[in-house]
Amino acid sequence: MIHLARFSFLKSILILLTTITYSCSQSKTDFSAVNLKCEYLVNPLGVDTQQPRFTWQMSDNREGASQGSWQIIVTSSGDNNSGRENIIWDSEKVNSSASLVKYSGPALKPFTRYSWNVTIWDQNGKKSQSSELAFFETGMMDKSNWKGTWISDTRDVNLKPAPYFRKEFSATKKIVSARQYIAVAGLYELYINGIKVGDHVLDPIYTRFDRRTLYLTHDVTSLLKEGKNVIGVILGNGWYNHQSTAVWYFHEAPWRSRPKFCSDLRITYEDGTIEVVKSGTDWKTSTGPLTFNSIYTAEHYDARLEQEGWNKEGFDASVWKAAIPVPAPSLNIVSQQLHPIRQTVIIPAKSINKINNRTYVFDLGRNIAGVSKLTVKGERGTVLRLKHAERIYPDGKADQSNIDVHYRPTDDTDPFQTDIFILKGGGEESFMARFGYKGFQFVEVTSDKPVELTEESLTGYFMHSDVPVAGSVKSSNPLFDKIWEATNNSYLSNLYGYPTDCPQREKNGWTGDAHIAIETGLYNFDGITVYEKWLDDHMDEQQPNGVLPAIIPTGGWGYTWANGPDWTSTIAIIPWNIYLFYGDSYLLEKVYNNIKMYVDYITEISPDGLTTWGLGDWIPIKSVASKELTSSLYYYTDALILSKAAALFGNMEDNIKYAALSDKIKNAINEKFLDREKAVYAKGLQTELSAPLQWGVVPDDLKQRVADNLAGAIKANGNKMDVGLLGTKAILNALSENGYSDLAYQLASQETFPSWGWWIVNGATTLFENWPLDTKSDISMNHIMFGEIGAWMFKSPGGIFPDEKTPGFKNVILRPHFVKGLDTFSAEHNCPYGKIVSSWKRVEGKIEYHVEIPANSSATMNIKASAITLNGEDIVDSKSMKVLKNANGTFIVTLGSGTKDFVISDLN
Ligand code: BGC
Repeated sequence: MIHLARFSFLKSILILLTTITYSCSQSKTDFSAVNLKCEYLVNPLGVDTQQPRFTWQMSDNREGASQGSWQIIVTSSGDNNSGRENIIWDSEKVNSSASLVKYSGPALKPFTRYSWNVTIWDQNGKKSQSSELAFFETGMMDKSNWKGTWISDTRDVNLKPAPYFRKEFSATKKIVSARQYIAVAGLYELYINGIKVGDHVLDPIYTRFDRRTLYLTHDVTSLLKEGKNVIGVILGNGWYNHQSTAVWYFHEAPWRSRPKFCSDLRITYEDGTIEVVKSGTDWKTSTGPLTFNSIYTAEHYDARLEQEGWNKEGFDASVWKAAIPVPAPSLNIVSQQLHPIRQTVIIPAKSINKINNRTYVFDLGRNIAGVSKLTVKGERGTVLRLKHAERIYPDGKADQSNIDVHYRPTDDTDPFQTDIFILKGGGEESFMARFGYKGFQFVEVTSDKPVELTEESLTGYFMHSDVPVAGSVKSSNPLFDKIWEATNNSYLSNLYGYPTDCPQREKNGWTGDAHIAIETGLYNFDGITVYEKWLDDHMDEQQPNGVLPAIIPTGGWGYTWANGPDWTSTIAIIPWNIYLFYGDSYLLEKVYNNIKMYVDYITEISPDGLTTWGLGDWIPIKSVASKELTSSLYYYTDALILSKAAALFGNMEDNIKYAALSDKIKNAINEKFLDREKAVYAKGLQTELSAPLQWGVVPDDLKQRVADNLAGAIKANGNKMDVGLLGTKAILNALSENGYSDLAYQLASQETFPSWGWWIVNGATTLFENWPLDTKSDISMNHIMFGEIGAWMFKSPGGIFPDEKTPGFKNVILRPHFVKGLDTFSAEHNCPYGKIVSSWKRVEGKIEYHVEIPANSSATMNIKASAITLNGEDIVDSKSMKVLKNANGTFIVTLGSGTKDFVISDLN
């Protein structure tokens, strides 16, 4: 007894001590603001806005944790904010759970590093320690701050070799920091003392150069030294000087010119003085080994023309000529503020096929967008050709016939997707294109003299806008997981600072492809910076009458074909989805008037509320849906988004006007296309039934019957899809949202023609442009166009949706469908608040459902079942959750942040 009493006394002491230690350590570390970003980037340089946006997440494992207040302190001290004298902006404590806040202190100065941190309080008023310090650095802020002159080497747009530039200068004192600001029309590589600056490729990102040109900011402090230094620049053509003839007339673009640049190297010395080494006619220029480069076709490199040490000190540049001054491409020189293009994956060749000692074919084992690198030893003057292709002929050679259809060569000097590399001889040498990219899996290397190549001689580099990963899915069906991977491969292969259709045949910013893929993109990747930039491109390209071109940017083509609302509704659909996924209305507000001009234009040409303007259900499997129906649905969607945006920005007049317009369009659609008796739209094709459901025009009392008819139409077609592009956006969602998620999964995981799985079982690692494998046209093997399936995985089996009422996943809607055919499924999405997990598995006839909701967020779970338990208790009796059960057996459960494991019985 005594022993026992002593034991329980000791135990109480122990518990007390543990509690004390726990609460001490808690008050230190249990919650804080983390993942601080400015303008959605980590510690960005070159911020040029007066109101940069700050975002953070609340790191807190406590159940139901949420933020009650925040305080931001911005200092100009560079690396510490301990002294209050350096405080530029102290927001003071603001009672709000927001974690997206605009800077609103005094005017920011150019060329200045600002540090910032966030202190948060939880919902009970408990204060966190302050976050780690983050920083942002302003750039030029105003174009009058540029010191350099725009320079080039010639005005000849047809000259093929790329220009090289060098500038030697002396840094007279000890350097404490240095930034190189460089604005380029075309593409560039920058070197300091022979070392390439940064890890980006294909900078600057493509814009409509005569309306907006981007500049970059590089921290080059560590590359400079006291004494002599050399800056080297190579310019590429990119989209600025399109020398290859191709479809859509880029070689006739109004901006076309010899590439040029303007640069300021701003050095801060230890004594506080500043020196700017600027571009001007005192820079020397020459051509070199890069004898041709085309973003569309390929690159030619003659290593015999290399000038050793051209970008280093001590090089004899006496035969180099002086750079010439040229006009700026536009007066709108804007800081590039987006995740850059990088080489993200190095892919060793999976096999090599030696056809003879002059012909080898390498297979990467997967289709990518990017470049290849060849390392080879051979005789001086040996000419190697690297032909990139997505497929091979039966004889093993590269087959470009599916991708060269828009290639319009005028002679044989510019072969398609084929780099030409001439050896200088004397040892191992390597080549990798620097100013272009290609879509390929195979590289056929031919040479005019025998060379010995092995599997190690060639490597692939996957390149794309290096947007952070924001989501993943995993299931018990490996084929389904492969479809998800292929979707992401195609999404990234088509993200180069603007969304493209394909990385080989066109590389164009096709609008329709991009809005179809927007949700897939945003569930999987943190792409806001790229889309904000691309919407600037939209504003550059919009005609005063509101019309947008089908491809953006464009050199002028696309204002009269393929640019109806089914394609160019990007102007409304993309900002709206950014708002839903990020809870940030900045972009929507910025383009509000552009959406309005666009909608007003459609109204002008469609007084009755219906429009036939558009391409329709592009690349249908067999049946062709009514174009008037699909185009009018997009017109309706735009008007609806506009009316909601108007309400958001307090413009009630517009809100009423465009809500009335969207009603008018909806009624016109239903009047003309809906047979109320039969609950069928138009001819009852799969697209005609699913698109009205997806875009929300079907009257409530007919929804179920329209969905039943859709399911009937699929069954009548042998349980197969029969849709085109617009139908693929709608069909899986329309089924899932109306009680047919099992059928949707059946389509989504099918292995026979026509389906995504059909491509995968035939070896695809990317999505294709067409369903049959042997079709004669529109047969790129890397299109994101049919990629809505990637978003559907998050929505239907994953059940993760943003909540329009509290966007940015402030509240998460959880509505998973435990589809027949899957035993397990898990979806994760990193939303602005942190990681959401929705994961389930079947165990003994029940579903174990695992949910994680990040701190400062909540969720509304919506599940149809007979019973749901949490830790063995019926949730109806729960005190920690609000639970409602509808008459139709649906549980509506309100959850706070944290992790929960439910058991769900008797699903309906
Ligand atoms: C592109 C498509 C695009 C279509 C529109 C094609 O050439 O590759 O993806 O949407 O044209 O017409």
